[in-house]
Amino acid sequence: MATIDTLIDAAKIQERVAEMGREISKDYAGKEVVFIPVLKGSFIFAADLIRHIEGVTTSIDFLGLRSYGDGTETSGVVQITSDLTKSIEGKHVIIVEDIVDTGLTMEYLLDNMKTRQPATMKVASLLHKPARTRIKIDIDYLGFTIDDVFVIGYGLDYAQNYRNLPYLGVLNPDG
Ligand code: IMP
Repeated sequence: MATIDTLIDAAKIQERVAEMGREISKDYAGKEVVFIPVLKGSFIFAADLIRHIEGVTTSIDFLGLRSYGDGTETSGVVQITSDLTKSIEGKHVIIVEDIVDTGLTMEYLLDNMKTRQPATMKVASLLHKPARTRIKIDIDYLGFTIDDVFVIGYGLDYAQNYRNLPYLGVLNPDG
């Protein structure tokens, strides 16, 4: 039976996400920001992050993406399955992602969002796996840098499972 090794426990995640929220609050003090969580993986991170935003007029709009691949590997072919509900033209935008792995998904996303002419656009990602970088992405707010392992929990899935875990873990298929 598969077992799960804890990579980053819930308390450590909460501590780091609170710090990221404080950093964003400082950078955007008194401004208006549209947070754009990329579904599904970032829904828990985004929900925690925005609760640590203070002194910033905060709105949220979701983007649903499907990236084609074989379970643990993306192909870089990305489809928007659910688009934003409002224009972001002239707005300060922060894209909220669960993980930047090869960077292919984020590159597609940033190119797409740029055509919508936001005033500024930054990236907040909970995780980054630099060992797998194929396209370098500037991550403005980064939670944790991790090794080349496939992680689950805190919103991240394997075959749509495990998103509910309050911590980040690594799945061992053989136990
Ligand atoms: P990229 O295009 O290779 O950067 O992959 C980005 C997407 O692949 C993420 O938004 C995740 O949905 C998924 N992904 C990449 N690595 C992992 C992982 O370790 N666990 C779960 N999902 C992952």
